[in-house]
Amino acid sequence: MLHVSCVLVALCCSLVSGRIVPRTLQVHEARESVPNGYQLTGPASPDTVLSLRIAITSNDTDGLIDVLYDISTPSSANYGKYLTKAEAEAYAAPNPDSVAAVNAWLSENGLESTTLSPAGDWIGIQVPVSKANDMLNASFSVFTYPKTGLTTVRTLSYSIPSDLKGHLDLVHPTISFPDPNARTPPVTRVLGGPSTETSSSSPCADVNDNGMTPACLQYLYGIPTTPATVSTNRLAVTEYEDEYFNQTDLQTFLQTFRPDMNSSTTLSIFSIDGGLNLQNETGLEAALDTEYTVGLATNVPAVFITVGGEDFQQALLDTATALLAEDSPPQVVSTSYGEDEDLLAPAFAQKLCNTYAQLGARGVSLIFSSGDGGVSGNQESQCRVFVPVFPSACPYITSVGATTQIPEVAVDFSGGGFSNYFLRPVYQETAVTDYLLYIGTNMSGLYNAVGRGYPDVSAYGVDFEVVAYDFTFGVSGTSCSAPTWASIIALLNDRLLAAGKPVLGFLNPWLYSTGASALTDIVYGNNDACGPYYNIGFDATTGWDPVTGLGTPKFASLLSSVGL
Ligand SMILES: *[C@@H]1O[C@H](CO)[C@@H](O)[C@H](O)[C@H]1NC(C)=O
Ligand SMILES: *[C@@H]1O[C@H](CO)[C@@H](O)[C@H](O)[C@H]1NC(C)=O
Ligand SMILES: *[C@@H]1O[C@H](CO)[C@@H](O)[C@H](O)[C@H]1NC(C)=O
Ligand SMILES: *[C@@H]1O[C@H](CO)[C@@H](O)[C@H](O)[C@H]1NC(C)=O
Ligand SMILES: *[C@@H]1O[C@H](CO)[C@@H](O)[C@H](O)[C@H]1NC(C)=O
Ligand SMILES: *[C@@H]1O[C@H](CO)[C@@H](O)[C@H](O)[C@H]1NC(C)=O
Repeated sequence: MLHVSCVLVALCCSLVSGRIVPRTLQVHEARESVPNGYQLTGPASPDTVLSLRIAITSNDTDGLIDVLYDISTPSSANYGKYLTKAEAEAYAAPNPDSVAAVNAWLSENGLESTTLSPAGDWIGIQVPVSKANDMLNASFSVFTYPKTGLTTVRTLSYSIPSDLKGHLDLVHPTISFPDPNARTPPVTRVLGGPSTETSSSSPCADVNDNGMTPACLQYLYGIPTTPATVSTNRLAVTEYEDEYFNQTDLQTFLQTFRPDMNSSTTLSIFSIDGGLNLQNETGLEAALDTEYTVGLATNVPAVFITVGGEDFQQALLDTATALLAEDSPPQVVSTSYGEDEDLLAPAFAQKLCNTYAQLGARGVSLIFSSGDGGVSGNQESQCRVFVPVFPSACPYITSVGATTQIPEVAVDFSGGGFSNYFLRPVYQETAVTDYLLYIGTNMSGLYNAVGRGYPDVSAYGVDFEVVAYDFTFGVSGTSCSAPTWASIIALLNDRLLAAGKPVLGFLNPWLYSTGASALTDIVYGNNDACGPYYNIGFDATTGWDPVTGLGTPKFASLLSSVGL
């Protein structure tokens, strides 16, 4: 085997460069330790075939980010001038030299790649563990998470040929680990069934007893009930991990809570990686997401993006590349899933985040929930330092935290904090610096003060009435807040499109500048939830804070903020 690959090295390298270049490996990424709760069980079987993905360095990522900011900043002359599919791909596409260099290395090893993304910056290979260990100086092993029995094959470090530095960004999955915890929102209570809407003076009068409803959200945020009119406008919700909605439950929800709407209103299905639409297997997350988009963004064409596969990180990537493959992707995409940032390899998180930048440059608003563990990650967990959540940690998306009570205060589970991977973006420099001055040395060492702060905004997130299995459940989490914001952005887009204007695209440069004054600043509450440091978390305060972001929406003010 070794002999054969040596011959190939000589052949391929002489073909590419005209001379023989020995491959010197260099460590590319390494993880200091096994993620919390995982155990190394032993080496992976040498014959196990791995599906590895390779990111080839994009032509001009810096240029892409510059364009993203330029077209997303209201004061810019290019505001709203989104890129076409081809224009965005020109930034993301790898340089032909990089493609040749990576493919030469692969063919030396007898491997052929398939192209996985429209821009060609992701390719895939199938490779047995023995060969992967060899060519990547890796040690692919079996890791288990005893609490749930989850097993996975990963390595704690890998190397690439040093001459491929600058051509090859990363190999995945290598040092990224799957999230062992469920990502669905906690159910606070079963409210009963079949559901009935109680009538009372104010739409929010019963919120503490009966839970949050579309009528109360419409009242609280001034969300219009009048039907949207633009048929090219679309609002998508993504679902992972076998979460499906049931049309009958959606119909019951609309009959109960939106009697003014056509109760047969439904979502179109967009399947990725063989994602299903199982009407007989309702999930609460999917029920929540569909009911609070269809039921709030009145008459905006809604899309149910169902993503198959077991690996959430891969599913996130495949979702982004499938959307990029569309000539007209949905203008708003709401995702109520995330995971602890440190489970992802830094290079993979960076690459995925750049892929989100590409969608932003195409005019897509990406909205993610900020997690339900306060300062301790996606779901509350033991932590010695605060645990940020991805994709909320990515500066090119909009992260949504949660509030409770009326008038609103921060709710303690609202995910928030600072990324350990991504630096603070320019658009939030002032807002975050002000907050850091306010907290002074409190909690120093527990968070990364130079990191991207999240969430960006927030919305009510407690006890949403959700119909599933013909029952009504009270569901809480930032999973409630993300579709609420997404629906509001979709309704703003409807009015913008009707007025012949571009949609809102990447929201943050607007939200942190002229948009901030169209929000209700949430100034009370805290998101304390970190293991041994219980009762330590960030306080909400005047201005931006890493609990409720800039605040909650006011539809009429947002409309005037976008010039309508
Ligand atoms: C190979 O990997 C080990 C860690 O497993 C590392 O210590 C060593 O430096 C690597 N060697 C090369 C040449 O990449
Ligand atoms: C990116 O590609 C375009 C055309 O495809 C080319 O003009 C440009 O020079 C490339 N930029 C870099 C940094 O390679
Ligand atoms: C209600 O929506 C369904 C599904 O889109 C459609 O077939 C039906 O015609 C609509 N009914 C009315 C009264 O608009
Ligand atoms: C959808 O849900 C309803 C009630 O919640 C149930 O009666 C129906 O059987 C479900 N649909 C399917 C296809 O299972
Ligand atoms: C739902 O339907 C699918 C396909 O028809 C079937 O494979 C699955 O077992 C069903 N699930 C339940 C819970 O009945
Ligand atoms: C700083 O910490 C002290 C002691 O825990 C606390 O009383 C105070 O409210 C904190 N201030 C801020 C701004 O977080």
